[in-house]
Parts: sequence; structure tokens; C-alpha cells
Amino acid sequence: MRILGIETSCDETAAAVVERFGGEGGRVNLLSNIVQTQLTVHAEYGGVVPELASRAHIQNISTVIQAALTKAKTEPGQLDGIAVTVGPGLIGGLLVGLSAAKGMALATGKPLIGVHHMEGHLMSPFLAENSEEEGMDFPFIALLVSGGHTLLLHARQFGDYILLGQTRDDAVGEAFDKGARMMGLGYPGGPAISKLAEQGDREAIRFPRILLDKTQLDFSFSGLKTALRTYLIKNPLAQKDETFRQHVAASYQEAIVETLTIKAIKACQQTNCPRLLVAGGVGANRRLRTLLTQRAAGKIQVSFPALNLCTDNGAMIALAGMERLQRGGRSGWELNAQARWPVMQIPPMGSIQPIQAPAQPPLGQ
Ligand code: KG4
Ligand code: ZN
Repeated sequence: MRILGIETSCDETAAAVVERFGGEGGRVNLLSNIVQTQLTVHAEYGGVVPELASRAHIQNISTVIQAALTKAKTEPGQLDGIAVTVGPGLIGGLLVGLSAAKGMALATGKPLIGVHHMEGHLMSPFLAENSEEEGMDFPFIALLVSGGHTLLLHARQFGDYILLGQTRDDAVGEAFDKGARMMGLGYPGGPAISKLAEQGDREAIRFPRILLDKTQLDFSFSGLKTALRTYLIKNPLAQKDETFRQHVAASYQEAIVETLTIKAIKACQQTNCPRLLVAGGVGANRRLRTLLTQRAAGKIQVSFPALNLCTDNGAMIALAGMERLQRGGRSGWELNAQARWPVMQIPPMGSIQPIQAPAQPPLGQ
């Protein structure tokens, strides 16, 4: 089975072709993975400008899809389905990807599968070029950490997710991005802070680890952001001296990473689940990978996606779409983009009818 995945929910125009041998749970092969980033479009504004993102997606989408098919040596007619992110995300961008996917599904007669962006991220650790990994091992705890989400899920099986905790204010990626902006670093802030932090002392400043009530698994990052702002105002040197700036970045990053680590391990303990999977853009953070691996050692098995598959890509959407298609999930022509789509409203698989009605023959055929 070969699936094309299209992702345009934020500031990456992405398409990929993923292949699976041997039916449900078989080996997955990444045939192509093209990501056209819009970093230069948004950099001067310090964040994603939705209208500019939509325009850039329109300009790039056809080339990106064509490149993904060419690299995968796949003709559209050889595909078994077309998966596309339908939400959550920026509505203009989502509509560009969805329109392209519908156009291709219409032209080829192949099934269209709408995918939840976070279910895509959830699949990313199972992807690799020439992967030897056989299928997915449920259940596991998922720590999904991106620019828009901070979620702890208990993934009991594909499509069956229990929400254990989420952020009450800023997403963790936002904590990186806003912190970076306060320090005059570029966008996106996560890579910028983590680079500056490499030479810094993470114990230099004790920023708060906001754990809320110790037994529960929600997050809050707005207080930490305020603590950074207050610190920068009180210590003007922190803005000028490079060594000082490295210490601030390392200490700020440590507060974020340690909070995530404490909560993720607690989620595993509370559910008695010894497997933890981390995904989303912030999953690329090296310090998070190190600290989680250290603290989980001997107790919890931790998996991360390849670094290039942490941030948004079409491959994760293709794999989530494939999982749904193989279980009979298929979207109809009425499929629409959803800017907001809570993760607990992802349609389950199994006894309940997945996604939407089967596709009708288009245009009165
Ligand atoms: O998953 P993603 O590509 O897009 C969303 O769905 O939001 O995540 C983007 C977020 C940004 O906030 C970015 O600053 C953060 O991931 N990020 C990182 C790193 N790389 C990307 N945060 C910390 N360390 C990194 N190395
Ligand atoms: Zn994402």
C-alpha cells in the first residue's frame, strides 16, 4: 500500500510518499519526504503570519507534491490513497492542502483520508527510511509537544486516545518561541534557544518548574515566561553579555525540559505504562531527549522520531492516513478543514464508523 501525505497546517508545505508491505502492522518504508519551509517568509515578523503562510502554500503546493511523487518514483495512479491534514491549524493553509488533495483524489479516483495533525505527530516515531521496525506497539504514553500543543495521551490502540494532561495556557513550543523573542533571538525560538544553551550553565538561574498540583498532569508555561521577562528586566546585562545570555538560555530551557520530563514520567507511573513516545517539534530538543532518557533509564522505554521527522512533515500524515485506510476509514467529498479540533474528538477506529461516509462518485459519474 502506497499513500501520499500532504501537510499545510502551519508554515511548512510538505508532501511525502509512504509504503507498507504486508498489511496492517507491516514494515513501513519512507519513499520520499519533501518539506518546503517558509522560515524566510515569516522570520522578519518573529512568528507565522497566517495570510503570508496561505499564499506561500499556494505557490509551493504543486511543486512539493510533484517532487514527492518523483522522488518516490510513483505515478499518481499507483497510489492507494491521498491523506491530508484537515486540522487543527491555520485555516487558510489547511484549505490549500485539502483542495490539492481533493483535486488529486478526484482526478485519480483514489480514496481521500482526512487526518488530525496530532495523530500524524503520534505516528512519526514509527517512520524511518528503510525501517526494520515491525508495526506499532500499543499501548504507550505520548508526550506531544509542538508550537500549538502540549499533550499527554494514553494511546491504548490506534484511534483510542485518553487525554491525561494538556497545557492550561501557552504550548511548550510557544514558551520557546516567546522566550526567544524576549531575548532577541530569531524565529523559530526552540532551535535558537537550544543552540545558545549549548555553551551555557543550566544551573546558573533557577527558573520555576511549574508543576501545578503534583498529582495531576496539566502544564502551565505562562508563569515561566513571566519569570524570564522579569529576570531580563532586572538584569540588563543578560541582554548584552554573550556568556550571560548562554546561561539564561540554558537555564530557561532546563526549566521547560525538566517540567516535561517530570510530568511524562508521572503519566507512565500513574497508568502503569512502561513505554513513552515523544513527538512534535519540541521533540527535536536534544536536552529533552537526554534528560528524559536519563530519568527513564531502567524503568521506561522512551522513543523519539528521527530529528527531521519531529517538525511538521507529510510522512507522518501519510502513515496516519494509511492506518485509518487499512481499518476502513475514508473521507467523503464533504471533508472540510477544521482550525480547531480537540484531540479527544479524533474519531475512534473499530466499532464506531470512522471519519465520514465513503466517498461518493464525484460530478454525477
Ligand atoms: O510540530 P511543529 O513543527 O509545528 C506545530 O505543529 O506547531 O513544532 C514547531 C515548534 C516551534 O515552537 C519550535 O520552536 C519548536 O517546535 N522546536 C523546538 C526545537 N525545534 C523546533 N523547540 C525546542 N528545541 C528544538 N530543537
Ligand atoms: Zn505540528
